[in-house]
Amino acid sequence: MTYGSRRNRVSSTTVAITIGAMLVLGNSLSARAAGDPKRGADVFDGECAECHSVKQGKNKKGPSLFGIVGQKAAGVPDFAYSDGLKNSGITWTVERLDAYIANPNQAVPGGKMGKKYDGLADPQARADVIAFLSAQR
Ligand code: HEC
Repeated sequence: MTYGSRRNRVSSTTVAITIGAMLVLGNSLSARAAGDPKRGADVFDGECAECHSVKQGKNKKGPSLFGIVGQKAAGVPDFAYSDGLKNSGITWTVERLDAYIANPNQAVPGGKMGKKYDGLADPQARADVIAFLSAQR
């Protein structure tokens, strides 16, 4: 009887701690902009589509971005990349993509994209376009 009620108290404490941890985690996740792939499609059309397609094998002024998230930089076989990007050693994680899209010249010195594109200053728009790109595979 006594033991039973004590056990109940312990488990409700555990529940309270679990909920607390979830709230903390939730806050730290939402502090970082969450990307919306639908809005990202519009960002892509407005900012990137002049030079990029997400169709596999379709290169424009820039290489196809099909499956780009998680891929090694300069990996599209028949695109003439700059030496800067070829030698960058980058794998396109979300973080590397974010830095590159924000400021291509700074992220990849000697790269081709930064010569014609200044980058996307708005962090939410970057998160959205990366969410869109993540879905192209
Ligand atoms: C004015 C043309 C232009 C625009 C606009 C542009 N890019 Fe690029 N992009 C390029 C070129 C050219 C390259 C190849 C860079 C090199 O070889 O250094 C490239 C390369 C890339 C790469 C690396 C691809 C790989 O295979 O490693 C990514 C990722 C990328 N662009 C994303 C974007 C995104 C996202 C946008 C829009 C927010 C964008 N680009 C806008 C021209 C452009």
